[in-house]
Order: sequence, then C-alpha cells, then structure tokens
Amino acid sequence: MIKFEYPDGATPIDSDETAGLLLPHISTKAELDRWEQDNINEADMWAEKYRRKDIITITFIRRLHKEMFKNVWQWAGKFRKSDKNIGVPWHQITQNLRALCDDTNYWINNSTYKTDEVAWRFHYRLVFIHPFPNGNGRHSRLMADLILIKIYNKSRFTWGSENLAKPSECRKRYIEALRSADRNDFSFLKDFVRS
Ligand SMILES: Nc1ncnc2c1ncn2[C@@H]1O[C@H](COP(=O)(O)OP(=O)(O)OP(=O)(O)O)[C@@H](O)[C@H]1O
Ligand SMILES: [Mg+2]
Repeated sequence: MIKFEYPDGATPIDSDETAGLLLPHISTKAELDRWEQDNINEADMWAEKYRRKDIITITFIRRLHKEMFKNVWQWAGKFRKSDKNIGVPWHQITQNLRALCDDTNYWINNSTYKTDEVAWRFHYRLVFIHPFPNGNGRHSRLMADLILIKIYNKSRFTWGSENLAKPSECRKRYIEALRSADRNDFSFLKDFVRS
C-alpha cells in the first residue's frame, strides 16, 4: 500500500477509499497530485462551457466533483459513507446541503450579502459539511469561483495567489482563516480570498 503524506488540514484517505483509485500505476503522492490536477483542469474547461444558471443545487455540486475527479477516483461525485475528523455526520450530508443551497439562493435573490460574501460564505459552509471522501477543499473553492463567474459575472478569487494543496505559509493562513470562521470570525477568510 502507498503511504501518502498530507499537508496540515488535509483529510486522510480511508483505506477503503484508496481502493477506489482508478490508476493502479500511481505510486507517489506527487503523481497522484499531477493526475488530479490534470482532471481538475479538464473540469475547469467543462465548467466554463456550462451555460445554465442552476449551479446552487445538489445535482450540480455532485456533478462538478465528478467532473473534477472522475479520471482518478471511482467515488468521484459520490458522498462520503463514513465519518471524518471534519465534516457533518455522513448521514446528514444531504439535509445540510439542501439547507445550504436554500440559504444561498435566498441570499442571491434578496441581495442579503455582497457578491464576494455570498461566495466565501458558501465555500466555508460547503467545506464544513465536507460531502466527499476527498477533494472537498479544491471542489468547494471552485464552486465559490463559479458563483462569482456564472452568477455575478465577476472574477474568481485569488485564494492567496499560491497553490493551496502544498504545505506553505499561504496554506497555513488559509486553514487559520477557516478555523477563525469556525469561531464565527470571518474577517481573515474575507481578506484571504482576494489576497
Ligand atoms: N479546521 C478546519 N476548518 C474548516 N475547514 C477545514 C479545516 N481544516 C481543513 N479544512 C478544509 O478541508 C480541506 C481539506 O479537505 P479535503 O482533503 O477533502 O480536500 P482537498 O481538495 O483534497 O484538500 P486540499 O487540496 O486543500 O489539500 C481544506 O482545503 C480546507 O478547505
Ligand atoms: Mg485532500
């Protein structure tokens, strides 16, 4: 079995989920990262061409995860079936996502928050729910960017302007910002997303 190393704040992959790897020739975390990134680039192009506005739905949330990881993981687009050290209990994922989509559509229709605030609040709540076995950080960041691009015609977030998948000062700031948000202080996350 391959032993993967994880940066701070990343979800360890259960052994039963590692079994869902579609690429048996992969032997290092660096190779896995590269394959995932290639797949995510394809998903980015797929999302760019997606013309419908119905992105704040459970169907789209699952579809995007599938598009991002379908070449790599057999469970791409499928919700967790076990609990993690982060995220809601797995059997409450659907009801939490439904509430998140309802709230977000309400914020959009009633201009409750400014555009950036809708996107980072959505990102925070989605990654807090942690619907998937892995890829929740990258998926929920792309979802936030798609809210900005597709719904508001705005530019995507810069997310600290560095690769967040690697351990770095930038990733530390990001995880700290999420931990502050856990304590109900959103000021760091708000600043981080456009830094
Ligand atoms: N303390 C925390 N509070 C809230 N969210 C957190 C916390 N720690 C980590 N996260 C989120 O969980 C993500 C890691 O989850 P997961 O491994 O499923 O996603 P990922 O896309 O593989 O991660 P990444 O590419 O960021 O390493 C982080 O990117 C971050 O968004
Ligand atoms: Mg991960």
